[in-house]
Amino acid sequence: MCGIFAYLNYNVPRSRKHILDTLVKGLQRLEYRGYDSAGVAVDGGNDKNWDNNSKVIQLIKKRGKVKALQDEIYKQDSLDFDIEFETHVGIAHTRWATHGEPNAVNSHPQRSDKNNEFVVIHNGIITNYKDLKKFLESKGYEFESETDTETIPKLLKYMYDNRESDEISLSTLVERVTQQLEGAFALVFKSVHFPGQVVGTRRGGPLLIGVQSKHKLSTDHIPVLYRCGKEKKAVSTLPRVDGDTCLYPIGEETGVEYYFASDASAIIEHTNRVIFLEDDDVAAVVDGRLSIHRIKRTAGDDPARAIQTLQMELQQIMKGSYSSFMQKEIFEQPESVVNTMRGRVNFDDFTGTVLLGGLKDHIREIRRCRRLIVIGCGTSYHAGVATRQILEELTELPVMVELSSDFLDRNTPVFRDDVCFFISQSGETADTLMALHYCKERGALTVGVTNTVGSSISRETDCGIHINAGPEVGVASTKAYTSQFVALVMFSLMMCDDRLSMQKRRQEIISALRTLPDLIKEVLALDDQINSLAHELYQQRSLLVMGRGFNYATCMEGALKIKEITYMHSEGILAGELKHGPLALVDKLMPVIMIIMKDPTHTKCQNALQQVVARKGRPILICEKNDDESKLLAYRTIELPHTVDCLQGVLTVIPLQLLSYHLAVLRGFDVDFPRNLAKSVTVE
Ligand code: M6R
Repeated sequence: MCGIFAYLNYNVPRSRKHILDTLVKGLQRLEYRGYDSAGVAVDGGNDKNWDNNSKVIQLIKKRGKVKALQDEIYKQDSLDFDIEFETHVGIAHTRWATHGEPNAVNSHPQRSDKNNEFVVIHNGIITNYKDLKKFLESKGYEFESETDTETIPKLLKYMYDNRESDEISLSTLVERVTQQLEGAFALVFKSVHFPGQVVGTRRGGPLLIGVQSKHKLSTDHIPVLYRCGKEKKAVSTLPRVDGDTCLYPIGEETGVEYYFASDASAIIEHTNRVIFLEDDDVAAVVDGRLSIHRIKRTAGDDPARAIQTLQMELQQIMKGSYSSFMQKEIFEQPESVVNTMRGRVNFDDFTGTVLLGGLKDHIREIRRCRRLIVIGCGTSYHAGVATRQILEELTELPVMVELSSDFLDRNTPVFRDDVCFFISQSGETADTLMALHYCKERGALTVGVTNTVGSSISRETDCGIHINAGPEVGVASTKAYTSQFVALVMFSLMMCDDRLSMQKRRQEIISALRTLPDLIKEVLALDDQINSLAHELYQQRSLLVMGRGFNYATCMEGALKIKEITYMHSEGILAGELKHGPLALVDKLMPVIMIIMKDPTHTKCQNALQQVVARKGRPILICEKNDDESKLLAYRTIELPHTVDCLQGVLTVIPLQLLSYHLAVLRGFDVDFPRNLAKSVTVE
């Protein structure tokens, strides 16, 4: 989805080239989110006095990749790239088209008028844009794009043109504009009327600010300022509470740089000191000072925003020696599952304790609940399906696993004594976030299972588990899936740690968790074999993936990986459903991947295998090493080590991750940027 990046240097002299390169690099870090056009806005004059240059804003926008934008930037003869700016604001954006096709006019920054007085970058969707547009057109404003976003800078200009005083600030204007907006957004503004200033705000979309100063920051939090007076009164007549926070010691040389971004990966190479904005915060940098304002105080509001230290390392978001992020992330799984368990599973303790810090204060309430509802989209939904059986077994509670969009469409009944889990790698998926709001309104306890610290889902849930898989950049989710899987298994173990009757089963699972990383390594060692299988299959049009029980989720997840990055048709089929329809697809031409592990479904899976063979199908088996009986009927086999039934899915999914990766490479597709897809789906 769209990406926001903005850079402000205050009293830190930077050449225009440096500024533009910083903006382009920021956009490159956001490329993985998916986009189809990109743009920047910088000060446009070439005067020796940098102050004069901010009276003109130069927009450069381009359809296609960030590289194309970069080429376009350096074609601009009107720009002196060597000129230095003491203070400057640049904003940049990658757009994933929703309203209007991907082209330069529709891409961001969007502008207020032909003179570029106000420019904005926007993530999200403005749902009432048609009404706003009608209003603005009636006032004589002319629109040039098909976007919902264009209403925002035009509304800002309308507010500015009709201001009651010249003293008005950009943040006040932005507050007024956001009060008129419906929908979800993260926004960053720049204006010729407010040189050297930047304002950012959010509602429903993530936005964070990185701070870099050569001085030690003088505070570790930014107080949130509220307007005083009656809430209903026009904002313009309300006095502003005075004060802002200087992040560096006053009296010293005051150089500071700020980075606004929708994603920490664009900031981490500049600074690890960040502030995550909350919905309806309006953050402004004026004269190098950052302040955060809110229009009104509501119960439970945090009075300050902490300056947090990002745990992410730059190398975590670099490909290293791998050819794609997806490949790197597949091979990181032995470590990422360890990181999910680190400090949480005590393997030395005879009783095998599992302690999830984020849940410990709520575990008694969860044990008393009526049912568990596990909600997510795509791969995150599959993690719920993969662990439903062990959750049911160890919690002895009814467990529903729901696709977020369908759960909302059905207006599913939710009660105060339900516990709802929201599974999301990004923590920002719009449908899952809306399902969270829906469950909160109905009084259920909400639990987030996310990979992104500071994400909307991790902040808005009552409690949760961070899966700690490390940044996942490839659009196709791989290591996040296995870590979500392990996190949910750990939760089910924690739920039954006081149940004597379950200790034997718990011990079996805990010892399997201990050996899991090594077994994952064993499976990854099959890469060459899987690559040669991919050479046999890559020209097929379709691939079926069949299994049941603990491995049904692997079938769905494997099929999703295949269709997502290879564009082949693929279906995950529950083996129990074979005779109810899918068997009609089986003939000697259709490749059928079958997952048959030695668990209570083994015999039933073998029946399915017999039926495929009887229709002259050529099954490709993912099975256990010592399953000679099944191997006899196979056309090809991928042999996996044994683990406890409820963790098999972690091992069986890996050959399918690798297969989809190799198929995509052989078919000549960009593994990390599949067409039409985005990493983080922040619109419905
Ligand atoms: O960030 P989330 O886990 O909430 O994302 C949910 C899905 O969009 C995501 O898992 C998607 O299905 C993956 N691209 C699949 O590989």
